Amino acid sequence: MQPRAMLVIGASGGIAQGVIETLALQEPDTLILAVSRAPQSPGQEKARLRWWQCDYSEAQIAATLAECAGVLVAEGCRLDRVVVANGRLHEGELQPEKRIESVSAATLLSVFESNAVVPALWLKHLHRFLKRELRGGAPAALAVLSARVGSITDNGKGGWYAYRASKAALNMLVKTSAIEYRRSLPALRFIAFHPGTTDTSLSKPFQRSVPEGKLFTPAFVAAALLARLDDAMASQPSEAAQFLAYDGDQIPW
Ligand SMILES: NC(=O)c1ccc[n+]([C@@H]2O[C@H](COP(=O)([O-])OP(=O)(O)OC[C@H]3O[C@@H](n4cnc5c(N)ncnc54)[C@H](OP(=O)(O)O)[C@@H]3O)[C@@H](O)[C@H]2O)c1
Repeated sequence: MQPRAMLVIGASGGIAQGVIETLALQEPDTLILAVSRAPQSPGQEKARLRWWQCDYSEAQIAATLAECAGVLVAEGCRLDRVVVANGRLHEGELQPEKRIESVSAATLLSVFESNAVVPALWLKHLHRFLKRELRGGAPAALAVLSARVGSITDNGKGGWYAYRASKAALNMLVKTSAIEYRRSLPALRFIAFHPGTTDTSLSKPFQRSVPEGKLFTPAFVAAALLARLDDAMASQPSEAAQFLAYDGDQIPW
């Protein structure tokens, strides 16, 4: 059997790193194609890990995917899973807004750029790439890291305007592209994935309010994400995309 391969976009993040570490442990034969704005850190090398640095411009996304395709051929691997892990909640002066008075055009645009625009550009370029890689119609799954706070139905608390709205926009982009992908790639499953509060730099300033037992390690979330991808590949959901929590719970859009 051909070895499997998985593409991990936004590979320097805490959850993406958990996915890479967990895959390397659980599936030592699986080839991991990692893409990040950052170069690979010294000491992160693994026998089955390939790393591309990418500025997420369309030109570099296309060039990176062309190189990934070459490596898949050279290694004789079958790509069947993709995760897009990009997302930003805070960075320096940029903090989630508690009140509408704190909303600014600069913050909204910056958060939408990383949380919705960058994943959308990946979905655009992955379309042609996956049509080539998934020829033959074998089961495959693509997860985009979303967040429960992106659910419009579930929003009971308010606040975090830019992050919430960017994740709601992301969910719409995922669902809309899933409908289009389904026409040419009916065996590809789409998941907007809520990881739960995970101990990474993204959640660090907000961990004090997390209930006991509800702050997950990146390894726990990575194992859950891989399990959800496997479940999705084995299922025939009626909707083109599912909004799923780490434990498999369906979240209302
Ligand atoms: N941690 C949590 O509690 C939690 C909860 C709900 C949802 N999530 C979601 O899970 C995903 C991963 O989060 P994490 O906890 O692993 O966070 P993290 O450790 O802070 O990782 C940040 C991720 O976002 C990317 N990123 C950062 N700034 C960016 C920018 N300006 N443009 C494009 N990409 C950028 C990074 O990609 P590079 O490798 O290219 O830098 C990396 O994949 C995010 O989508 C987040 O919203 C996390």
